[in-house]
Amino acid sequence: MMDEKLGLYIHWPFCVSKCPYCDFNSHVRDPIDEEQWEKAYVRELDFLGSQTRGRKLVSVFLGGGTPSLMAPQTVGAILDRLSNYWTLDPSLEITLEANPNSAEQEKFRAFKSAGINRLSLGVQSLYDSSLKCLGRAHGRHEALRALSMARQTFERFSFDLIYARPQQSLREWREELQEALTYAGSHLSLYQLTLEKGTAFYTQAQAGRLQLPEEQMAGDFYEITQEIMEKAEMPAYEISNHARAGEESRHNLIYWRSQDYGALGPGAHGRVFEEGKRWSTKNFRTPERWLRSVQETGNGLEERVEVSRDEQMIEFLMMGLRLREGISLARFETLARQPFERIFPPEKLLPLITEKFLVKESDCLKATRRGQMCLNAVLSHLLS
Ligand SMILES: C[S@@+](CC[C@H](N)C(=O)[O-])C[C@H]1O[C@@H](n2cnc3c(N)ncnc32)[C@H](O)[C@@H]1O
Ligand code: SF4
Repeated sequence: MMDEKLGLYIHWPFCVSKCPYCDFNSHVRDPIDEEQWEKAYVRELDFLGSQTRGRKLVSVFLGGGTPSLMAPQTVGAILDRLSNYWTLDPSLEITLEANPNSAEQEKFRAFKSAGINRLSLGVQSLYDSSLKCLGRAHGRHEALRALSMARQTFERFSFDLIYARPQQSLREWREELQEALTYAGSHLSLYQLTLEKGTAFYTQAQAGRLQLPEEQMAGDFYEITQEIMEKAEMPAYEISNHARAGEESRHNLIYWRSQDYGALGPGAHGRVFEEGKRWSTKNFRTPERWLRSVQETGNGLEERVEVSRDEQMIEFLMMGLRLREGISLARFETLARQPFERIFPPEKLLPLITEKFLVKESDCLKATRRGQMCLNAVLSHLLS
């Protein structure tokens, strides 16, 4: 499915410290020779740009790690080159993920001058005790100050909270979320804490030293979250993402709608349609390995493989059912080159519809709220 539109993901892999729940590609390194890093990002951008020249760039997302640790000048040097290769959409969204630490707040204005027009703040909790438990480098006071600075600086900003944390009660989460809404812009990401293999939290849970809410209670957390957010007119447009109408993250929609995005930086993944094929790219994950590769070859690619039609279909389904809008059956059939019913015959689909995990409405297949709560199980039934 060729799509002229393109998103761009840029990964900055460094953090001040490693949070015990996080399995993102993030590393603590000090000092960083930022001039060298800037050159490498620019060089890899030139490589990607020359491969995808002329397409319409609709979003850029600087994620991490902690991109707010970057010098605004590095961000500017990267953003200034975008128009060398791509047509910039008039409503190009350029998001930067920021941590609320005070040194980073001071840079918000400079990021805006460098071209950032949307900020995504990793607040995680409004309570000091929870922030401590999550191993965060900021407290409540810094979080509130960062929120106020974000509001003053950016027309569009979002923040992240993590819920279903150790020892958190439903009542506490309700109160915290209600308070959070008083600081919110038009977008909020609300993630249920997950135990990721290889993290400190995972090891502690294995040893019985950390307990998360039982599955039933995790369901209650999810329900409460949806109720509160719907009342606040910020319904979920994706399992963990809430926005006022029209304020969805354009970048994230690219992933969930299986559109094209290029990727820069250590560990970044891309999906680009070229030469009649869809390609999956994966960069070297270790920062120093990526840097060396870019310096030697002009790109940090560890792998570039064709995505088969079957893989594209599965990905389209897995990503699309995360969205409230669901998937277009017509688009699915174009991709599959056969009718939907042939791939998912009634005996496979009907039980999921009868049990209200999925709904089929004219050209759309959607997961219900109940279906989204256990989407992995729904998908494994569909794909088995
Ligand atoms: C790339 S991460 C972090 C961005 C930024 N460095 C920060 O910490 O705020 C994006 C978001 O994923 C969420 N996240 C990371 N690990 C998680 C986990 N194990 N469970 C739930 N949410 C998680 C956090 O809310 C985080 O803000
Ligand atoms: S949650 Fe954010 S700050 Fe913490 S280690 Fe992960 S990327 Fe870094």
